[in-house]
Amino acid sequence: MATEGFQKRAQLLPYGRQWITDEDVAAVVEQLRGDWLTQGPTIARFEAALCELTGAKYCVAVASGTAALHLAALAANMGAGDTGLTSDNTFVASANGMRYAGARPMLVDVDPRTGLIDTRSLAARAELLAKKGTPPKLIVPVDFSGAVADLAEVRRIADRYGAKVVEDAAHSLGATYTVDGQTYRAASCAHTDMAILSFHPVKHLTTGEGGAITTNDKALYDKLCELRTHGITREASKLTHNDGPWYYEQVELGYHYRITDLQCALGLAQVKRFPQFLARRREIAARYDAAFATDEWKSKLRPLAVPAGVTSAYHLYVVNLVRRDGESLESVAARRKALFVALRELNIGPQVHYIPVHKQPDFQRNGLSEGSFEGSDEYYAGCISLPMFPKMSDDDVDYVVSALRETLR
Ligand SMILES: Cc1ncc(COP(=O)(O)O)c(C=O)c1O
Repeated sequence: MATEGFQKRAQLLPYGRQWITDEDVAAVVEQLRGDWLTQGPTIARFEAALCELTGAKYCVAVASGTAALHLAALAANMGAGDTGLTSDNTFVASANGMRYAGARPMLVDVDPRTGLIDTRSLAARAELLAKKGTPPKLIVPVDFSGAVADLAEVRRIADRYGAKVVEDAAHSLGATYTVDGQTYRAASCAHTDMAILSFHPVKHLTTGEGGAITTNDKALYDKLCELRTHGITREASKLTHNDGPWYYEQVELGYHYRITDLQCALGLAQVKRFPQFLARRREIAARYDAAFATDEWKSKLRPLAVPAGVTSAYHLYVVNLVRRDGESLESVAARRKALFVALRELNIGPQVHYIPVHKQPDFQRNGLSEGSFEGSDEYYAGCISLPMFPKMSDDDVDYVVSALRETLR
């Protein structure tokens, strides 16, 4: 690809990265000097802040988004012999949560324009499962890139089979969607039973590693709290007897999936800047959108479409190479690979989100890749995630656009 003479930047511009300030550092140091490193009150304060941000009634903060998916699957009573449905275009964790619970995830094709679960394929898959005598017990729609999946439609499909819905909102904290003229927040659980969040450093706010489950259902909340700590309870009504003030009982097999107060101190400091983070992500997306809206790009690349009524939180900014008339997907994929390599040479660190889960050898080996994934395969061939994080400058965005212009000449 032709990039000779292009003024290469000195430092790598990654696709995503955290933004840590002196205030964040001070908050963690203060926590370190205090009484609680873990199992203290900062966790509940962080959970309350997440309820405030999402509008959900309850929140259980845990060790990672993956732990959140596992616990949500368990709280949905998923186990051996059960089947669930999730998107083929996601991080493997969305499906693995069900697998950890002993259940089988079935993958669903996506709309190649949005990368979001295709609700017609979802309905067809669910019906197929029901006909086989194993109706879906859980559906995990993924808010890919920060745009909310069609949760109202997913809810309708789930209700046909009495399935629970867990929104994978790892990408969408701060996003909104509209149903019948009313606006809802991602992870508010207005149309779902639970939602999960992730606080990995590339996400909207970070705790290093960390995650959370939100819900409006008190029974699910209680179950999730129990499962987070070994299945242990101190609640009087659940104990067989009481030996004294120290007494607890393990009432089911749970896990050690706790988050620490140190992490939550960082999370709380980050929450304060969340509005700024979100606004900046949207500004960056608007700058990319404006650049790519000109005729020059029409035959070259297309930004991911955001569904009507959705305001994305832009965890990612994805573009797809435009498929030429009669071009094979292999050829699109080869052009994408060349673009990826060329951008790396110009000190840009793009990423590909995601390798379709059905292509993962472990899913294939375990018979979890059945079905047709035309939308997902088409999407994957040409997708590339450009740098998107709040600390990026306008000049950084312009550099990426110039580098693309140079490489796609
Ligand atoms: C869509 C999605 N779901 C779940 C996860 C898992 O989150 P974590 O890395 O916090 O375990 C991720 C993480 O990248 C993700 O992107």
